[in-house]
Amino acid sequence: MVRLAPSLLAAGFSRLGEDAAEIEKAGAHLLHIDVMDGHFVPNISHGAGVMKSLCKKTALPFDVHLMIENPDWYIGDFVTEETEYITVHQEACPHLHRTIRYIKSFGVKAGVALNPATSPAVLDYVLADLDLILIMSVNPGFYGQELIPACIEKVRYMAETKRSIGLKFEIEVDGGVNADNISKLALAGADIIVAGNAAFAGGNINDNVKALLAACRVAG
Ligand code: DX5
Ligand code: ZN
Repeated sequence: MVRLAPSLLAAGFSRLGEDAAEIEKAGAHLLHIDVMDGHFVPNISHGAGVMKSLCKKTALPFDVHLMIENPDWYIGDFVTEETEYITVHQEACPHLHRTIRYIKSFGVKAGVALNPATSPAVLDYVLADLDLILIMSVNPGFYGQELIPACIEKVRYMAETKRSIGLKFEIEVDGGVNADNISKLALAGADIIVAGNAAFAGGNINDNVKALLAACRVAG
């Protein structure tokens, strides 16, 4: 089953708690938390304090996406009872193996994200250590961008690699997903799909999330 992870980056920042509760009620599976530092990406979002303030507002597990330089300095701040995944960018981690181990030392699942221009081959020697690969389908920094079609091929490639070498890591896709293209990503092999704009557009969170879930189900 594909799991849907709405991104709070596209929610109303003054009503994050209410929006998180609504996402949960609509049937989404995870809460995607986009953390941006204004260095690794050209935007600043929210940090661990904001994320922690949501712990009591929803029972959804947190899916933390760190788009920051020096992630090792901050990983511990994002560990809570609710944190299921912490994902760092390969492009921001010179000692990626060490960072993956560090995330796992907190009992949290470790993910690595790849920008659209990054080849999946950079992960060959850490695949067995990973719980999650996050394939960015837009250049990170902003919600509401258009999906880059070549990234669907990357999802298919990773799903095929996973099958052929018998590993268990999950595949997540993030960026530009909507009710029209979500089934392609599910069919390509995505296990978790992030949706920002498509989940929050027009303030109809319930309808939007249900439409995305229905489109996933159509893909089987
Ligand atoms: C982009 C973020 C995404 C983004 C998704 O840098 O990592 O999670 O918020 O938003 P949409 O689905 O609107 O592209
Ligand atoms: Zn994200």
